[in-house]
Amino acid sequence: MDFSPHTGTIEKKRTDCLILGAYEKYKLTSSAEKIDQAADGTLSKLLKRENFKGQAGDTLLLHQLPGCRADRILLVGLGKKKTLTDKIYRKALDAAIQTIAGIPAKRTLCALLEAPVPGCDSRWKARQIALAFADGCYRFTELKSEPNALPVLAHLDLHCRDKEESETAVRGAREGHAIAAGMKLTKDLANLPGNICTPAYLADRAQQLADRYRKLKVTVLEEAEMEKLGMGALLAVSRGSRQPAKLIVLEYQGGKAKDRPTALVGKGLTFDAGGISLKPSESMDEMKYDMCGGASVLGTLLTTAELDLPLNVVGVIPASENLPDGNAIKPGDIVKTMAGKTVEILNTDAEGRLILCDALTYTERFEPKRVIDIATLTGACLVALGRHATGLLANEEDLAHTLIKAGEAALDRAWQLPLWDEFQEQLKSNFADLPNIGGREGGTITAACFLSRFTEKFTWAHLDIAGTAWNTGQNKGATGRPVPLLSQFLLDQRPE
Ligand code: BES
Ligand code: MN
Ligand code: ZN
Repeated sequence: MDFSPHTGTIEKKRTDCLILGAYEKYKLTSSAEKIDQAADGTLSKLLKRENFKGQAGDTLLLHQLPGCRADRILLVGLGKKKTLTDKIYRKALDAAIQTIAGIPAKRTLCALLEAPVPGCDSRWKARQIALAFADGCYRFTELKSEPNALPVLAHLDLHCRDKEESETAVRGAREGHAIAAGMKLTKDLANLPGNICTPAYLADRAQQLADRYRKLKVTVLEEAEMEKLGMGALLAVSRGSRQPAKLIVLEYQGGKAKDRPTALVGKGLTFDAGGISLKPSESMDEMKYDMCGGASVLGTLLTTAELDLPLNVVGVIPASENLPDGNAIKPGDIVKTMAGKTVEILNTDAEGRLILCDALTYTERFEPKRVIDIATLTGACLVALGRHATGLLANEEDLAHTLIKAGEAALDRAWQLPLWDEFQEQLKSNFADLPNIGGREGGTITAACFLSRFTEKFTWAHLDIAGTAWNTGQNKGATGRPVPLLSQFLLDQRPE
């Protein structure tokens, strides 16, 4: 989708659809008022006739209004003018794109930048508009033999007050567009089934990404190399599968060679059957999404490269399947990690932490300034936080705080859980240095405690996206989260 700023007279612009904002009690935004005047009051008359409430999420589609050159007008409710917030604004945008996606409009003109949202500037609003529109048009049709021929919105004009605002809007829209592109890659990979999206497939897609951007380099470690490095935990998970594991390493160099990178480590488990501790069959298909952390690393690197950010970022993705097999690890097995610690595997379904611990140890070689891992790690996170917030645990408060703030700004929120020493007590093994599970209580926290034993050498945060990476039920599908949060975090990093 392309974007361009528009600064002319709104009623004179030819377009397939003009999007206008309206508040409750028939109050109009200034562009809507102009159109109403040009139409001799027809707009406000129709609003009343159609009983348009103007609540956030309400929309009303009108055709060929007199005095206006747009084929259609889409009115979007913004709620009460005084209580308009960032979240309501985004809700209104999402409702708008829902309607647009169902009509044959190729080109639209959006006049929603003018609605004042406290604490949000034109750049933020333009970013959200571009993001909501590009992301709202996303459909996964790759594997349907007859994809629904939906009309595609190809061009979005953003109505701006003046030249100055149009410069800010272009900047914001570019950012929104890049974030949407990262989310699209993340969702595409995530929605692919396990028989297509294997560890080798993920590695190929990482290679393709690196081929596209000069500043991005990829290395893929094979099992033989993992063996040499002593990655006994990662290899233990992969034993039960016929697909060889891959350790995908991406290096984006946008900063100076000596700038320490931010490392993003993403769980890339392309199918989690649980291994010998086999999962129940209900909803097991959704375990194709167990590579969403890894996919979000690829997506965020795409956004980073697309925006040409002046930073160094390393992406590390341990990719494997977790299946039961004669050669699979068994409960009670003890393996040695790359860090030298031994782990008693009491439940083969707690495999994410096993592949991540070796990937985290491997990340030490990049001397990262900070490490953020992203993983669909625990069902317990879904129980604790539902599907709205990503779980966040960290060994440093500043990093936790910055990530929370980035999530708030990007409307992709995370909520912190405690990583107190008391919880570490739950990780005790009679036979090895530590077990891979810590009992039923505080499952998300003890999983993070396990990881914390392998991140002592750096500043680290863990994002548990078990509840936020995909939607279940009728709208089953990947969400692209937490690409917006991570992109915002990287956008906010100023190189020192
Ligand atoms: N990938 C799952 C976590 C998961 C489950 C995410 C359901 C989203 C929805 C992970 O590998 C897993 O199986 N975790 C176990 C850990 C337990 C054995 C300690 C879990 O959550 O049940
Ligand atoms: Mn599992
Ligand atoms: Zn898993």
